Amino acid sequence: MRLDKFLVATGCCSRTEAKKIVRAGGVSINGRAPKSSDEKVDPERDEVIFCGKKVIYREFTYIMLNKPEGYVSATEDNRERTVLDLLPDEVNKTGLFPCGRLDKNTLGLMLITDDGDLAHQLLSPKNHVSKVYGFRCREPLSDNDAERLCAGVDIGEDYITKPAKIALDDGRLSGKITIDEGKYHQIKRMFEAVDNKITYLERLEFGALKLDGSLERGQWRYLTDGEIASLGKK
Ligand code: URA
Repeated sequence: MRLDKFLVATGCCSRTEAKKIVRAGGVSINGRAPKSSDEKVDPERDEVIFCGKKVIYREFTYIMLNKPEGYVSATEDNRERTVLDLLPDEVNKTGLFPCGRLDKNTLGLMLITDDGDLAHQLLSPKNHVSKVYGFRCREPLSDNDAERLCAGVDIGEDYITKPAKIALDDGRLSGKITIDEGKYHQIKRMFEAVDNKITYLERLEFGALKLDGSLERGQWRYLTDGEIASLGKK
């Protein structure tokens, strides 16, 4: 693999930066300075040091995106922009897909990966991975309706939702809801079941992963080693 590609794939820098940093002597391969950024590296064997730090090569890519409105959670779509369109060309998108779905107008935490086994683990209903959403609703949510939402409501197609948790803000028009399943439009349908309506929805947590508050809408970054470990891949 070319050194610049390797540095981009491991999240060290962009391809243009790689060129400059290699030229400035900021990179070594097995203890010697490469002549240029198109030199070859063997990701499994070679030891690459980037700006004084050993580069860890991963088999899979894990990206956290702060999803803005107006993008669909798909890899391609004939009419709509997809969450993958938010990643720059320098990210190798081969095999990447959004892990789970957020509606076009839902914001917040989206995991994008090419690790099918982990995605399956996180999305399998058997594993009850919890998702926390910040919401706003049209009508103040009464205690009774909050209790109904927590106990389980009929969202159609003979489906009663599993227990949820709600923490309401003062004013009862917003708060946080935690669910550990992921039916289509689930939270919107839950609020409709109690004659209310979601007017804003943002995913804040997905299992152990928390939305990085320093990411603006539409921004992304690679997961840290700690975040990847926290996902508990079996
Ligand atoms: N529930 C919804 O209704 N929409 C989402 O995007 C996620 C959960």
